[in-house]
Amino acid sequence: MDNNRLKELLASMTLKEKFGQLSQITGELYVGQVDEEMVETGPAYPQHILDEDTIYTIGSVIGASGAETTNRIQAEYLQRSRLKIPLLFMHDAIHGYRTIFPIPLGLSCSWDEQLVKLVAEETASELRAAGIHVNFSPMTDLVRDARWGRVMESFGEDPLLSGNLGRAMIRGYQKILRDGRIAPDGVAACLKHFAAYGAGVAGKDYNAVDMSMREFFEFYGKPYEIALQERPKLVMSSFNSFNGVPVTASSEMLKEILRGQYGFEDLVISDWGAVTELQKHRVARDGKEAAELALEAGVDIEMVSTHYLEHFEAIVAERPELLEDVDAAVMKVLRLKNELGLFENPFADEANEDEVILNPVSLALAEEAGIRSCVLLKNENEMLPLRPEHRNIILVGPFACTRELLGNWACKGRFRDAVSLEEGLQQADDSLSVATFATLEDCPKEVLDRCDYIVVAIGEYWEQSGEGHSSVYLELEDKQKQLIRDVKKTGLPYACVCFSGRPLALQDIVDDMPALLWCWYPGTRAGVAVAMLLTGQATPTGKLTMSFPRVSAQTPIYYNEYSTGRPANTSSYSSRYQDCDIGPLFAFGHGLTYTQATYSDFTISGSRISETEDLWVTFQINNPSQYEYSEIVILYIEDVVSRTVRPVREMKAYRVVPVPAYGSANVEMPITLEDLRYVDADLRKTVEPGEFRVYINDLEHPLFTFEY
Ligand code: IFM
Repeated sequence: MDNNRLKELLASMTLKEKFGQLSQITGELYVGQVDEEMVETGPAYPQHILDEDTIYTIGSVIGASGAETTNRIQAEYLQRSRLKIPLLFMHDAIHGYRTIFPIPLGLSCSWDEQLVKLVAEETASELRAAGIHVNFSPMTDLVRDARWGRVMESFGEDPLLSGNLGRAMIRGYQKILRDGRIAPDGVAACLKHFAAYGAGVAGKDYNAVDMSMREFFEFYGKPYEIALQERPKLVMSSFNSFNGVPVTASSEMLKEILRGQYGFEDLVISDWGAVTELQKHRVARDGKEAAELALEAGVDIEMVSTHYLEHFEAIVAERPELLEDVDAAVMKVLRLKNELGLFENPFADEANEDEVILNPVSLALAEEAGIRSCVLLKNENEMLPLRPEHRNIILVGPFACTRELLGNWACKGRFRDAVSLEEGLQQADDSLSVATFATLEDCPKEVLDRCDYIVVAIGEYWEQSGEGHSSVYLELEDKQKQLIRDVKKTGLPYACVCFSGRPLALQDIVDDMPALLWCWYPGTRAGVAVAMLLTGQATPTGKLTMSFPRVSAQTPIYYNEYSTGRPANTSSYSSRYQDCDIGPLFAFGHGLTYTQATYSDFTISGSRISETEDLWVTFQINNPSQYEYSEIVILYIEDVVSRTVRPVREMKAYRVVPVPAYGSANVEMPITLEDLRYVDADLRKTVEPGEFRVYINDLEHPLFTFEY
């Protein structure tokens, strides 16, 4: 449909039809009840107050999926609505729709934008086949506090990496064609949750956020700023208040910063019920005031609560100047429907769905992504991988034979499609004899006598992280710690594999873990991916994107903290805890491989950087092993002296470098003047003359110094 036709359509709409387009409800209002195809992702709000007539003015539906279900809803809607504007279906496929990929925090440990883009492309294909047009993903909320249950959905604690992976995901979802439309197997991306939702006080979900604007622009805002360059079609405003104003009612955040400074031009959707929740924030007296505040702030679509539709007449009568914004918002909805090709074909192809869902390419990618997401945190005496003499394996622990390895927010993923670790080990290497037990007591003595090696499968259960699942205890369960100690007592070689949605606090057990493979939640192909690493058919390559605290109370903890006047040291007059060692248990960027690779021949192209001259750091990676793999290389900078206090280190570049088996790879990493620019105490973007230090991978030992 051309722009003129869209304008004509807009001109033909009643006010109620316009506000209908700006409202989103759940699917059961159309299909009568919540069935298997519906996913509820928030508390129920009384949508039944909408009469029949109003329901057929609505613009979009959340939580219904499946080609048959969405087609049924669409067909009925189109038949009964006056203007026959197709519905948009929106969903949360955070790490896959039916084929489930590693949780985003796991995926981020691959540091691989191309991999993330491919994952998003496959997810988009499944979503579109299932009748979904908009995906509420990616989430680029910066995270520093492992107590927050939603760290699993994030890309970790670094703003640059989070932004870049978010951007890659948006590119993968939207599959923008030359003419600017979304490909028939692409979906619109909704970047969320703007803004600073990850900074809720004390790691509690939905909690207030209070921070300086410098902190916002330097850290929390940056990942959205970067991801927005990929032009997601939607942005979701966050639940939290920011410096005293709920974001859903904040023109400063949604108009001045998101649209003004970051240049976003498309649709802003509220989070689930966030408009009505303005009353709970106690900034709105009633639903009408809540709707007015949200509209005024620039929230185009109200998700699930229905105040726009209930109060539009009164609001517009009192505030006719809002009509211009309303028309602009409706036009954006119509344009999105047009870019998705819905006016030409509003239906999903039911015959195609089965072919696309869980197709072999997606499953292979899920396996690859699973492998690349795991992080080898410890490997004393090369305890991993299993050696040829390790054939009789005991696999023990609560995660030994479960298929519940998808992680939270697994959309329409089904446990029955997933591979357990037990199944994975058997599939990966049929010369292994694997005996599986939940606890060591269940294991008969003769099995133990025959055993060559024990794999201990432990972790945090999937329901323990995710939305609304903040925790104060980040330690492993006592019974799991006991299991590890019991295994140690057998005197047999053993390794631990841990599944979780967040970093855990392992100080009191880590010494009893000679080898520790951190698997996050790898998704549908979990068991095979982990087994490939345990058996040495692939080497772990992942590196942490979120620091691991030693104990729960050491959260929040992150590598890019500000310098202090009394940096942490062994003296009590320093910035440290008296009862905890300094620094994280496992730092940002940590991750081992089986390769024993070394770095050599470090050079820097000069000792001064300028407006016209970048610097280049070069070096070689030497791989003496049989593994062809990807080495993650991270470059940090330290600004030695500046007028505004700066982070102790800041990651400025990274590379995922393919390294051949028994070969080497040359790496070149640029440093530009832009990398030295920062937001100062007066909120000015500035770069100061002075000295800078360069670090590669290692946060402690600088390799070079240069000046500007
Ligand atoms: O997209 C989600 C959001 O992340 C949390 N609240 C519900 C939304 C829609 O499901």
